[in-house]
Amino acid sequence: MTDQLATLLSEQRRFPPPVGFAARALATEKLYRKAQADRLGFWEDEAKTLDWMAPWSRVLEWTSPHAKWFVGGKLNVSVNCLDRHLSGPRRNKAALIWEGEPGDRRTLTYWDLAREVNRAANALRTLGVKRGDRVAIYLPMIPEAAIAMLACARIGAVHSVVFGGFSAESLRDRINDAQAVALITADGGYRRGQVVPLKRFADEALVECPSVRHVMVVRRRPGADGDEAFAEMKEGRDHWWHRLLAAAGPEALPEAMDSEDLLFILYTSGTTGKPKGIVHTTGGYLTQAAATTKYVFDLRDEDVFWCTADIGWVTGHSYVVYGPLANGATVLMYEGAPDWPERDRFWTLVERYGVTVFYTAPTAIRAFMKWGTEHPARHNLSTLRLLGSVGEPINPEAWIWYHEQIGKGRCPIVDTWWQTETGGIMITPLPGVVTTKPGSATIPFPGVSAELVDAKGQRIEKGGGFLTLTEPWPGMLRTIYGDDERYRQTYWSRFPGRYFAGDGAKVDEDGYWWILGRVDDVLNVAGHRIGTMEVESALVDHPSVAEAAVVGKTHELKGQALAAFVTLKEGAKVTAALKDDLKEHVTKKIGAIARPDDIYFAADLPKTRSGKIMRRLLKDIAEGRALGDTTTLADPNVVAKLKDQYESEEG
Ligand code: PRX
Repeated sequence: MTDQLATLLSEQRRFPPPVGFAARALATEKLYRKAQADRLGFWEDEAKTLDWMAPWSRVLEWTSPHAKWFVGGKLNVSVNCLDRHLSGPRRNKAALIWEGEPGDRRTLTYWDLAREVNRAANALRTLGVKRGDRVAIYLPMIPEAAIAMLACARIGAVHSVVFGGFSAESLRDRINDAQAVALITADGGYRRGQVVPLKRFADEALVECPSVRHVMVVRRRPGADGDEAFAEMKEGRDHWWHRLLAAAGPEALPEAMDSEDLLFILYTSGTTGKPKGIVHTTGGYLTQAAATTKYVFDLRDEDVFWCTADIGWVTGHSYVVYGPLANGATVLMYEGAPDWPERDRFWTLVERYGVTVFYTAPTAIRAFMKWGTEHPARHNLSTLRLLGSVGEPINPEAWIWYHEQIGKGRCPIVDTWWQTETGGIMITPLPGVVTTKPGSATIPFPGVSAELVDAKGQRIEKGGGFLTLTEPWPGMLRTIYGDDERYRQTYWSRFPGRYFAGDGAKVDEDGYWWILGRVDDVLNVAGHRIGTMEVESALVDHPSVAEAAVVGKTHELKGQALAAFVTLKEGAKVTAALKDDLKEHVTKKIGAIARPDDIYFAADLPKTRSGKIMRRLLKDIAEGRALGDTTTLADPNVVAKLKDQYESEEG
């Protein structure tokens, strides 16, 4: 980490926007000046690019920490993503180009997609799903994932997408927290040649989900109609998606939603054992998703936009579905793994579909680096014109590799910082305007106010500190579902009057932001957020475990990997089998993404006098560093230092 920061600090390379790119970029410097002069006016003009059924009376009503955007305005998100494109030349344009992992392909035009969404909306209505009801979605990356989300939006139901890699128990907890009345799932999805039996996991979850009255099951596996091996249909509760849609009419009236009506809930990890249901509403969210997609990705009608995120994460919501479709773009969607059947699968896709804008995570880029340049070199990537990165800090070497090997030195890179909570991109270069520095997310998007503060909450101009946001933004979370107190506590109490993002950051001489990583007990494993407490709760749930502490250990590819320190109950024996059993237990409780890489058995866990586990010490052990002076916890790790400051000021 010291090395990492030193590298960042000494990073002198500069990449001005290529002249040709800058000359025709949608965003110019004027945008910054406009937002600077009139922040609300800037956002209001972006909102005006959407179709509204009734106008708003006020742009913003702000009673900290609660915001209402475009107050009184009415709109429907699905109308903005579909209907409004049907009257002009986009009617027959590809909205979704999809490829399944086994190689099956589908293309849906805007017209096709609208038809499917309308039918799905009618099917949901037939099942009695109403405006305001919550619908859980547990699907692989197939067109039906986007269709299901948009169908919910059409009838005013609130979707809660649960990543298909989460376990039955995680699905159960999320369904119950939101009291979902329906679940949309599939018989399976493909991942590295295997079928992930989602319906089976769903059945396991539903045993303890009394609120769910109906399940719609997409038949992902062709020819497997009624394939009992993968989808045992429960009479009265379960319905095949394709049968319901075949019986449903192709036109469904859209609900006129209030700008502040809920669009979706998305669960994300926090610092406690219980994931938080992040609440996003309609008008502000769509405004920010649409505006950032347009300006950050310089998106045009002729582009083929590929954001590789799964629909189960916020990136999949804002940049696979809502942002691009609101802009009438063509979206590429791919179901499976990047190394299946070969390590050039992504580049095969870029070449086959002529992808122009490509948005992925540093963890993927590091894997590509490791796999070698021969894979991208085998393909014609000349259609690419812009590259993006999201989810974790990108190390300068990975940035340069991406620039040279994928962008061939030609494509600007947008390193975009944001969060599930922010709804859309917050800190990023605008590709035709801002000179980039490898490893820096550069400067706030127009209309976004970010400030660096020290541990006491004093604003600092530059140096290391904590990333805070000082003004409300349209896509911001409105609350935590069912727990407004937790919303206030988590985001607004640490530095009064400021939204605290959980990230440590550095601002340099030029005012550029370098995101250093989380300073709270949230880890970022392969770009996925995992709460240490969640994994600890899963471990202590095992009958042999007395106590557990989980830390993030620096990992070459994943950024961080999980290391767990465990003390056992009296009588439990330390064995290799137990290690595996514990890893399996976590996988079952949360999902494979939370499976610890290492488990260490300890007689005791090191604690401070007040009983707080000394995580930094455990991190040193996990990373094989010398322990140093444990009384002062001297450590060269900058993020860890910030973390300490953060925690000690917490009082
Ligand atoms: O630590 C930051 C990191 O990811 C966290 C948010 O995770 P999540 O809510 O899952 O959303 C990820 C996709 C938006 C942040 O608190 N993060 C996200 N983008 C970047 C980043 N860290 C550094 N650079 C980024 N570009």
